[in-house]
Order: sequence, then C-alpha cells, then structure tokens
Amino acid sequence: MKKVGIIGVGEYLPEKILTNADLEKMVDTSDEWIITRTGIKQRRLVAKNEAASDLAIKAAKSALQDAGLDPEEIELIIVATITPDMQFPSVACFVQNAIGAKNAACFDISAACAGFIYAIGIANQFVAGGAYKNALVIGAEVLSSITDWKDRSTCVLFGDGAAAAVLTEVSSAGILSVYLGSDGSLSDLLMLPGGGSRHPATAKTIEEGLHTIKMRGNELFKIAVNTMTRAAQTALDKAGLKYQDIDVVIPHQANARIITAVGKKLGIPEEKIYLNIEKYGNMSSASTATALCEAVKEGKIKKGDLVLLVAFGAGLVWGACVIKW
Ligand code: ACO
Repeated sequence: MKKVGIIGVGEYLPEKILTNADLEKMVDTSDEWIITRTGIKQRRLVAKNEAASDLAIKAAKSALQDAGLDPEEIELIIVATITPDMQFPSVACFVQNAIGAKNAACFDISAACAGFIYAIGIANQFVAGGAYKNALVIGAEVLSSITDWKDRSTCVLFGDGAAAAVLTEVSSAGILSVYLGSDGSLSDLLMLPGGGSRHPATAKTIEEGLHTIKMRGNELFKIAVNTMTRAAQTALDKAGLKYQDIDVVIPHQANARIITAVGKKLGIPEEKIYLNIEKYGNMSSASTATALCEAVKEGKIKKGDLVLLVAFGAGLVWGACVIKW
C-alpha cells in the first residue's frame, strides 16, 4: 500500500453572520443560554440562492491552489454532505464541472457529522491502493436549509460552510490510521424524516414539519462523549500511538461541552484541542473540515505534528483518523 497525505486545504464560509442576539429576536432563547450550553456565539448562513455546491466549489478551488495542483490532476472527488443541492446529481459532479476536474470520478457520501472523516477514509483507500493518485475530499453543508427556525432546541446549533482537502501519494508520514463505525439502531435520535422515499414531499409532510432536523439532543450528549472517546482511542491504537503523542486534536464541533468532556476523558490538555464552534456552530461534515483547514492556516498544525481527527453524528456514525503532518 502507498502512503497517503494531505497536501492542501481550503475553506469557504458564507458572509452572512447570525448572532445569538439575532436568535433572541426569533425564538425564546438567550445569548447566555446558548454560550454556556453550547459554546456558540454566531454562525454563518448562505445568501439567497446559495447552495452546498456553491460553498464546496469555492473551498475546492482554495484547496487545489494550496496543494499546487491543476484540476485535471484530480482523479476522485468525494463530497460529504447531508444537505446536497438536490437528490441528484451529486454535489461532487457540480464541483467537478465548475472547477474543470474532467478526469475525476465523483460521488457524495452521507455520514452526517462524521462525513469528512468517512470521505478521508474512502479516498485514502483509493489512493493507497493505487487506483487514483490525487483525490479531493470536501465537507459542505447548508444546514440552515433543513433547520426549523421556530425550534429553539435545534435552531441555535447549526450553521453553513464548506472546507476541502487534497489527498495524494506521499513518500513519508501521512495518514497513519482510520477508524470508522456505525450503530443504525439509534437512528431515531437524529434525523430528517421528510423528502426521501419514506415520506416524499407533500403538503402534509410540510405541514407536519418533516423537512427539518429532529434531534433528541439530551439523549445524544452522553453517547457523543463516550463514542468520540472510544473512536479516538481505537484510531490511536491502530496507529500504535498514545494520547501523549498527539499534538493537535480536531474534533467535530457539535457542542463545546462535549469536546471538553472528551478531552478530559482522554487526558488531552485543552490547548491541544482546536475549537472554532464559537464562530460557526455545528456545520456537520464541514465542521471537522474547517477546523482542520483553519488549524493549518493559523500555524497550529506544523510539519511533523501528529493530528487526531474525531467526529460523531446522525446514523449513528463515528470516525477518527490519525495523520502525521
Ligand atoms: N434556549 C433556552 N433554553 C433552551 C434552549 C434554547 N435555545 N434549548 C433548550 N432549552 C431548554 C429546554 O427546553 C430545557 O428546559 P426545561 O429544563 O425547562 O425542560 C433546558 O433548556 C435543558 O434542555 P436540554 O435539551 O436538556 O439541554 P442540554 O444541556 O442537553 O443542551 C444540546 C442541548 C445543546 C442540544 C445538547 O444536548 C447537545 O449538544 N447534544 C448533543 C448534540 C449532538 O452531538 N448531536 C450529534 C451531532 S449533530 C449531527 O450529526 C448533524
């Protein structure tokens, strides 16, 4: 198997900012509740007519520039998203056309908040096995399009954004381990029931609010902490490493309290854990993607560092990955 590394990252966050103060005018909530219960101060929202592919395309172009590759050198594009522009074609195909990556095979994956790590895991297999040389993976979400803006228990949590990474064959270091897992028996804790083949869109499904996120957040909290801790442990074991070896942790940004609890359980000091939830809220697959991108751009991840990515989300699904930068 070939060694695979990330040679470029890029992101795009829409310009519009929705603050906690704005939300106070929309639902019965407070800046204080949102900050203390979640760590979120603001989130980004797309402009009218802006869809997931619009964000993904900008993130992809930025990552390609960072990697110094031409679009035609990309042989695989995977977009992790639960908010595609439409049921089909895939967001990946829209990205391919917009950036001119005419030699790429393209598909989307649905693994919610763990989507970016799942996409890295899949692309890693293709490149390590020699099928493709360069792959582009993207986490892109417009969660505002599936948010119930009248439900205070969910609408304060989510935001829109995208980030991308270019994976390629490298001579040393790179991805050391990937661990992916799922538990479909807990699917009812977090779902978007309407709009698929189970409940195709009708006036009734819209009236019943089936086209927005339904989450039993309180029940998910403990599961999220335990599952992310276990996933991180498994990825480290697979890489033959200990927590003390890790320089930077890039966790999924669903709730700052979940991240703090995971850090405590693992015995990883807070300064090693990268957080951007304050600025963006939970962007599902785009959360780990943007956190990785920003940690690199801010110089928090340096050459030779050991980086641990870990995420958890609807499915339930989870994933963790160790990369030597
Ligand atoms: N403002 C004010 N009060 C609120 C708000 C709000 N926005 N939302 C809920 N409350 C109230 C509730 O009504 C409840 O009031 P009560 O005690 O009078 O009944 C109280 O606050 C506590 O509610 P909880 O739901 O118990 O609050 P909790 O502390 O659990 O925080 C949260 C909720 C933020 C959703 C948390 O449970 C969480 O982060 N859960 C995990 C989410 C997660 O990991 N999801 C998976 C990834 S996301 C993905 O895959 C797309």
